[in-house]
Amino acid sequence: MAEASEYEAALAEIRAGVARAVARHRGDPGLLIQMLLELQAEFRWLPEELIAELARALGVPLARIYRVATFYKAFSLAPKGRHVLRVCTGAACQVRGAALVVAVAEQLLKVARGETTPDMRWTLETVNCVGCCPIAPVVLCGDDYHGKVTPAAVRELLAKYA
Ligand code: FES
Repeated sequence: MAEASEYEAALAEIRAGVARAVARHRGDPGLLIQMLLELQAEFRWLPEELIAELARALGVPLARIYRVATFYKAFSLAPKGRHVLRVCTGAACQVRGAALVVAVAEQLLKVARGETTPDMRWTLETVNCVGCCPIAPVVLCGDDYHGKVTPAAVRELLAKYA
């Protein structure tokens, strides 16, 4: 029973979020990407109920929204944690110890890369070069860049954002 009402509450939030995004852009399907970016930022992922509601509100096929949502890396069709830790594994970062940074992050968070902690606090991801090679190895926490990250610094970062 509690699960059903939680689901209904989440659905109501999704419907309200979609309605706001559509209203902000006057229901223009040409602004689909912008709406998806805003919804991704608000919900941290794009659940199928959200995509269905958006398709209905805009009067566009579901397939069109899925095509966009699966093409761009900015969108996620799986739940993400409150914080996303992204370890750069581009060449310069690899040379300067990115593999060890990933291993330490996996050990501390108890998840593998690409996974989210059960408490939904953290998602651990690896990314290609983020354009800051001189300060490799680089880790992003949300939109914050951290350079010359050591294994000890990973622990400090996790504590800082916890
Ligand atoms: S390889 Fe990591 S910032 Fe360029």
